[in-house]
Amino acid sequence: MAGTELFGAEEKKEVMDVLETGILFRYNHDDQRENIWKAKTFEQEFAQYLGSKHAHFCSSGTAADAISLAVSGIGVGDEVIVPPYTFIAPIEAVLMAGGVPVFADIDETLCLSPEAIEKAITPRTKAVLLIQVFGSMGRMDEIVEVCRKNNLKLIEDAAPALGGSYKGKMLGTFGDVSAFSFDFYKIITAGEGGAVAMNSDELYEKAHMYADHGHDHIGNNRGAEQHPILGFNFRGSELHAAVALAQLRKLPHIIEQQRKNQAALKEVLSEFDEIQLREVPDPEGDSATFLSFFLPEATKAKAVFDALQEQGIGSAYWYQNNFHFHRQWEHLKKLRSIYPLPLTAVDNVPDYENLSLPVTDAIMQRLVMIQVMVNWSDEKLKELQSKVRTALKSALNK
Ligand SMILES: Cc1ncc(COP(=O)(O)O)c(C=O)c1O
Repeated sequence: MAGTELFGAEEKKEVMDVLETGILFRYNHDDQRENIWKAKTFEQEFAQYLGSKHAHFCSSGTAADAISLAVSGIGVGDEVIVPPYTFIAPIEAVLMAGGVPVFADIDETLCLSPEAIEKAITPRTKAVLLIQVFGSMGRMDEIVEVCRKNNLKLIEDAAPALGGSYKGKMLGTFGDVSAFSFDFYKIITAGEGGAVAMNSDELYEKAHMYADHGHDHIGNNRGAEQHPILGFNFRGSELHAAVALAQLRKLPHIIEQQRKNQAALKEVLSEFDEIQLREVPDPEGDSATFLSFFLPEATKAKAVFDALQEQGIGSAYWYQNNFHFHRQWEHLKKLRSIYPLPLTAVDNVPDYENLSLPVTDAIMQRLVMIQVMVNWSDEKLKELQSKVRTALKSALNK
């Protein structure tokens, strides 16, 4: 992934700044830290990059989802509409909050469909957790409108599409609150880390307090701080923030390179009539971290995936992938947990074992994805174009 490809002197310098002061904690210690505030600096620059009023750095993307749900007021029995094509982290966060994940179909954007969201709404629905899946966006105008019309909170998890935008507005600024991850497999990485972003002062106050045991962060004396609410520890450390800061400054370069490299691969795909690209509601805003496309039917999609694998192309057939699709989530189907999940105390729990999402299944069976890297040289890109062409020709008998 992009971030890991670009580690260098910049990350080392930011980390050394922190190590030289020895203050790894993001708050307080003002007289020892020589004005080094990596988490705060990251938050300022990240909010500015997004065009959001506030950002808060935290320990992971899952933490960012948990904070987003908490500040949205999600508690026991509240239904949250979620997609079946995602890494499971946001759904685990709903379960931890006591909420009830309610699955709705995706459309050919690969994100939640606004029509399916509308159909899944019940009197207990409190929020929609929209995941901007693998580089690009859902149909944002309609999704925002469905949430507004039905008085639902929109929580946007933009972890897989950081750097993307829709009609000039950054992904991660459409939600009442939005979540990001900087784990090792994300567009920028801090090893581990995450962030939430929002425009509301009230949600921001709740977020930074909740992420740090309810501390109000007023003044510079930890011992004298008040804690108006109960919270948790989702704090990010200065070391992680230091790496995230160096990576954030590389993000415009990452997106530019990905777009160039994705365009070169798209040229090859355009030679094959049977290939249809993923629907991207604003193609100019695609973060281009991946290239997703459809074949007319499942057998052809699987054949294309196998042929790409044979050529050594980083690709995925998510319908059968172990991680990112509900059909493989045996732990969720059986609600296998080491403690009694709060949702077992409510009576509106869907039958996860027998989820029926035929529209999503039909889309996913036809889907193939190629991963786009940042550091491909022109030579490498030519070689990849040729290998992708060979794979497609052999799979599609051309
Ligand atoms: C959409 C989404 N949200 C949240 C996460 C969780 O991020 P983290 O690994 O930082 O907890 C991931 C991780 O892959 C993800 O894909």
